[in-house]
Amino acid sequence: MADHYFSAEPGSADVRRTVEARIWGKPYTFTTATGVFSRDRLDIGTAVLLREVEPPTGSGTFLDLGCGYGPIACALAVETDATVWAVDVNTRALELTGVNAKAAGVADRVHAVLPDGVPDELRFDAIWSNPAIHIGKPELHKMLLRWLARLAPGGDAWLVVGKNLGGDSLQRWMTDQGYPCERVGSAKGFRVLHATTP
Ligand SMILES: C[S@@+](CC[C@H](N)C(=O)[O-])C[C@H]1O[C@@H](n2cnc3c(N)ncnc32)[C@H](O)[C@@H]1O
Repeated sequence: MADHYFSAEPGSADVRRTVEARIWGKPYTFTTATGVFSRDRLDIGTAVLLREVEPPTGSGTFLDLGCGYGPIACALAVETDATVWAVDVNTRALELTGVNAKAAGVADRVHAVLPDGVPDELRFDAIWSNPAIHIGKPELHKMLLRWLARLAPGGDAWLVVGKNLGGDSLQRWMTDQGYPCERVGSAKGFRVLHATTP
């Protein structure tokens, strides 16, 4: 089977490299590897999300849905006192998120786990995601409904989706599902969406 970044356990050699990025004005050096999403640079969609939305402040419990090597989760933890759950189906991505959280000094507040590793009783004050569109609409919708249902009352979801990958229809779908969703940014072919709880 071809080895995609979304393989549960990438079969390719684990060739590591580092990627430099600035997020919310702060410099990061992330370790990435073959078999994970956007291993050569901070993804443009992720960069758009983090540029278009102000960093959160304070504490709370956040979810980075589809964390990859963890740029969103690490930046959220650095900016806040929050606990961040970083979820992915790719075990190499989870390992790298752990490495990157440690390098950023936030390993104590970033929990990189498989989806079923999140305690059932946890509710999130915010979900941040550059979601995995390639899994197809039915799976994407299932994944989003699973985690949106875990938002605390008054919670927010911040998503970035390529316009050509269905950003506008996803906005309508979220609203139809009872999570009023508006477009709060648009750049480089990406839509930044903000959804709230009913
Ligand atoms: C577009 S990438 C974003 C990665 C990272 N957040 C970034 O900005 O570089 C989406 C990620 O979702 C993961 N993924 C795929 N299916 C998933 C699922 N059902 N639950 C959680 N994550 C999933 C993929 O392995 C991939 O790492």
